[in-house]
Amino acid sequence: MKIPLKIQKQAAELRDTINEQNYYYYILNDPQLPDSEYDRLMRELQALEKKYPALITPDSPTQRVGATPLSSFPEVVHAIPMLSLANAFSDKEVQDFDKRARERLARNSIEYAVELKLDGLAISLRYENGLLVTGATRGDGYRGEDVTPNVKTIKTIPLRLRGDDYPRVLEVRGEVFMPTAGFNQANQQKIAAGEKVWANPRNAAAGSLRQLDARRTANRPLRFISYAIGEVVGGKLPNRHSEILQRLQTWGLPISKYSKVVKGIQACLDYYYKILEQRDSLPFEIDGVVYKVNDINLQESLGFSSRAPRWAIAHKFPAQEVLTQIVDIDVQVGRTGALTPVARLAPVNVGGVTVTNATLHNQDEINRKDVRVGDTVIVRRAGDVIPEIVRVLPEKRPKNTHPYVLPNKCPVCGSEVVRIKGEAVARCSGGLFCAAQRKQALQHFASRNAMDINGLGEKLVEQLIDKNLINNIADIYTLTHEQWAGLERMGNKSAVRIMQALEKSKSTTLAHFLYALGIREVGESTARLLAQHFISLEKLMQASETDLVKIPDIGPVAAQSIAAFFKESHNLEIIQRLQAAGVHWSENETTPSKAPTLAGKTFVLTGTLISMPRRTAKARLEALGAKVSSSVSKKTDCVIAGEKAGSKLTKARDLGVKVIDEAEFLALIQFT
Ligand code: IVH
Repeated sequence: MKIPLKIQKQAAELRDTINEQNYYYYILNDPQLPDSEYDRLMRELQALEKKYPALITPDSPTQRVGATPLSSFPEVVHAIPMLSLANAFSDKEVQDFDKRARERLARNSIEYAVELKLDGLAISLRYENGLLVTGATRGDGYRGEDVTPNVKTIKTIPLRLRGDDYPRVLEVRGEVFMPTAGFNQANQQKIAAGEKVWANPRNAAAGSLRQLDARRTANRPLRFISYAIGEVVGGKLPNRHSEILQRLQTWGLPISKYSKVVKGIQACLDYYYKILEQRDSLPFEIDGVVYKVNDINLQESLGFSSRAPRWAIAHKFPAQEVLTQIVDIDVQVGRTGALTPVARLAPVNVGGVTVTNATLHNQDEINRKDVRVGDTVIVRRAGDVIPEIVRVLPEKRPKNTHPYVLPNKCPVCGSEVVRIKGEAVARCSGGLFCAAQRKQALQHFASRNAMDINGLGEKLVEQLIDKNLINNIADIYTLTHEQWAGLERMGNKSAVRIMQALEKSKSTTLAHFLYALGIREVGESTARLLAQHFISLEKLMQASETDLVKIPDIGPVAAQSIAAFFKESHNLEIIQRLQAAGVHWSENETTPSKAPTLAGKTFVLTGTLISMPRRTAKARLEALGAKVSSSVSKKTDCVIAGEKAGSKLTKARDLGVKVIDEAEFLALIQFT
């Protein structure tokens, strides 16, 4: 068959692009395209090659399993190749896979081992006589890189197998990955050090593992999970995949607790949808699930196609990184006047959710990424975080774009925008003159953990401010029934309801009230701390900045902001008006009457507490009237023993002093 010139050119271009991407992905650990786009290009090339087999060249990227080994590490030839998995993107593709397998095996139904598809990099660990001798990357599937010193820094990988019934040679294969929390932390450190951040946890894992200096790997929070075996000599393993994994666990190798054994392909699909629901709450990233024929004999009869086993398939989840375009950049003004640039995107499905906006954080972030209106960008949405722009594709940038600069006047009220030296945030200086800030302040005031005014949502707040019905939070209690009933989508009934909610909100606690005032740097826990410390609002209002910094957990910035707030006559007037309107709390509530009052009791803290620093625990106890001492004596009423408690705990036991653990302590102070 003669291949049209156009097709030949298309294939050559696809090959070039994919090869170029491979270099960035595998060699530089710095991919330029999202996986979804890479997969799409690969599929396009595969489809062309399928239609015109003469197009296939030996060096076509479709003909290889993985990446070229990195030359700086010694080469390892895998005793058994590390193959890849075929992918399925739909239920239909999964059903077809099962159908093919059943037909080949002449069976009605197949038992599958179902597992998470961890998003990291594949590693082969070779144990000889129970000792870890080699750790290697997959490389091109046949030859990988010897990263033994790096692998040895990963704490969950045993250097020696447990027990004595392991095979003389055992190759264990699995995934090295970086849990999300560790990834975020590693990137924070990179930002602080002025280094380039990792695009996603997988690149972070690959980059960390392939550090030439293993000490750098050691500093990264990497984990390992086993999911397969390679060469096995001198020993027998069970003949079901799930049982092999169980056996690996007895030898000290980590396996996934999410794996299951199911019967039939429908149960596989059920697993897929169940895990998909949990995806965002998992502590690490996965890009799908994997189904494996569980019976090893059946695996053997199915065998392999050129690049992947016929007995397993990866069922991929919707991509968490995709390409889209920036249609516009808007600026939002927050409660404290902070200007947040937001990218308006051409709608795109990311991880199963349609995304139209992504935060750009601040000017520094925009400069760092050089994001411009019109750019094609990689958008990423992982976990429950707001979508983010990973990077711009400079080669797709249209002509005549301009670097984006935040406006120097507030887009809502026209006031000057100021950026304090050393701060990342730019702020509108309009204060409560700015309608955006007033709206946010009111919404915050009404929110659940503040005054909890049921029914006062965003739409109502907008109307109140836009119609100039209220100027500040104190005005909310002055509105009449007619005024409420006159608002859009409000009637008599709703007006009564909102007025009842307002009435109810007047009875509050000092902590809620302080939080509701929206003092900068005073979040819920600081508000609670202040309430517990001062008990009365008057005392807090009289406190100087120096008094405030003395309180554990109140830093100089918060102290300054609190003191400044109560110096402002405008704020005092609002507080006074709120109290006049009937907002009240009982001082006893601050030290809840239900809580045991600890007056006259002496406590000693020892060991490490997980839930709070020791000074906070001390402050809590003192707020309840207790004395906190540093040494245990017969006079001690109670010792609170955290983790790794030492001599004080022993002494308490010797003296017969009451000892409680952290959970009991939390219950005691009613910590939520
Ligand atoms: S089995 C011969 N199981 O996915 C089959 N792979 O796309 C070997 N992966 O190279 C792979 N989780 O890096 C298998 N539970 C799992 C997996 C898994 C993640 C990765 C692995 C592999 C790639 C294939």
